Amino acid sequence: MKAIVYHKPKDMRFETVEDPKIEKPDDVILKVTSTAICGSDLHIYNGLLPQPKPMVMGHEFMGIVEELGSEVKDLKKGDRVVVPFPLACGHCYFCSHAMPTSCESSNDNYGPEGGLLTDKGGALFGYTDLYGGYSGGQAEYVRVPYANFGPRRVPDGLSDDQVLFLTDIFPTGWSAIDWAQLKGGETVAVFGCGPVGIMAQKAAWLQGAGRVIGIDVERYRLAKAATVANSETLLTEDLKETVDILRQKTGGRGPDVCVDAVGMEAQRSLIEKANAALHVERGTMKVLEACFSAVRRNGTVTVVGVYGTPFHAFPLHQIFDKGIKVQMGQAPVHNYIDHLIELVASSKVVLNDIISHPLPLSQAPYAYEIFNEKKDDCLKVVLKPGT
Ligand SMILES: NC(=O)c1ccc[n+]([C@@H]2O[C@H](COP(=O)([O-])OP(=O)(O)OC[C@H]3O[C@@H](n4cnc5c(N)ncnc54)[C@H](O)[C@@H]3O)[C@@H](O)[C@H]2O)c1
Ligand SMILES: [Zn+2]
Ligand SMILES: [Zn+2]
Repeated sequence: MKAIVYHKPKDMRFETVEDPKIEKPDDVILKVTSTAICGSDLHIYNGLLPQPKPMVMGHEFMGIVEELGSEVKDLKKGDRVVVPFPLACGHCYFCSHAMPTSCESSNDNYGPEGGLLTDKGGALFGYTDLYGGYSGGQAEYVRVPYANFGPRRVPDGLSDDQVLFLTDIFPTGWSAIDWAQLKGGETVAVFGCGPVGIMAQKAAWLQGAGRVIGIDVERYRLAKAATVANSETLLTEDLKETVDILRQKTGGRGPDVCVDAVGMEAQRSLIEKANAALHVERGTMKVLEACFSAVRRNGTVTVVGVYGTPFHAFPLHQIFDKGIKVQMGQAPVHNYIDHLIELVASSKVVLNDIISHPLPLSQAPYAYEIFNEKKDDCLKVVLKPGT
């Protein structure tokens, strides 16, 4: 089959690989009908998360069940499903306590420490050997383990584009807001108007926010956030100034909730890059620092943007003094997806209005480049295999 294979940083190739096979009795093989490129894939593309050998990429995908293992219970050949991006077994301690991203079974590198280059909880499709070494879904076919726990059937009448983002970015944006437990009427500031940030802004309204502010360095992304998420927008060049503006907009106190939907690859200067190298940090935590600075006292900061290393001078004193609540991590998609499918099916939310580049799978190497470089107003790429 054809697939998108990572070889080295900035080198993704459309090439022929072996077809996936059923390996365990609760596996299914999907014929992929749609798959997307995620901001998380860019961390591999840009070499921030190392991958020593070629790997089929992709953790946002959906498709049609083509083949089933002998112990798959509720699915049948021909079913159309979306698949949560974390691989979770469904029966270990963490899976049975609604913490699927810490699954103890899906990753041979599992461990309690959460170390830098060892010891991860859970696993992700197409996301480095460290995260389980599973082939991803930017391919014509994909093996989906734990098929009794992950895949969800798509209700009739919904197109691929309408439901594809239930695999990752909408549940991720939803988590960022759910973790803040809104009571109603809060001001939510979301740093980042990429796909995840915009989904968090949509989720904020649905969970009762009174005001939603989207922040980014790219004007075209802010314009999109204003249109599709009805957010107030704020162009940031200097994050200290952005914090001041957020305070001015909120009676001097700051937003009730700040979401970091940027992560370690925030735009930075040469001096900031040199500083990071000195401290052996990958990327920067400048957006996270801005969240802690901006949020009102006793407010909540949630972090869905990815961070991969320790960071020097982490502002612990400020978090303590302000009494900030903090939650971060991979999104527990399994916990939310059924409710979120309902929201899409009942037209309470539209997800496909952020797609900027629907392309054939063969165009993925080009798509990685324009998504990474933010060329051609690229916001979200959806790839169709077989075209
Ligand atoms: N926690 C999870 O489960 C999960 C799931 C999906 C994605 N992610 C992560 O979420 C983050 C965002 O993903 P995405 O797909 O939206 O990626 P993206 O790269 O398209 O979005 C990042 C956005 O941040 C903006 N940005 C850069 N510097 C900034 C700054 N200084 N201030 C404000 N905005 C700035 C960029 O212009 C861009 O729009 C990534 O780190 C990704 O890995 C996490
Ligand atoms: Zn993703
Ligand atoms: Zn498990």
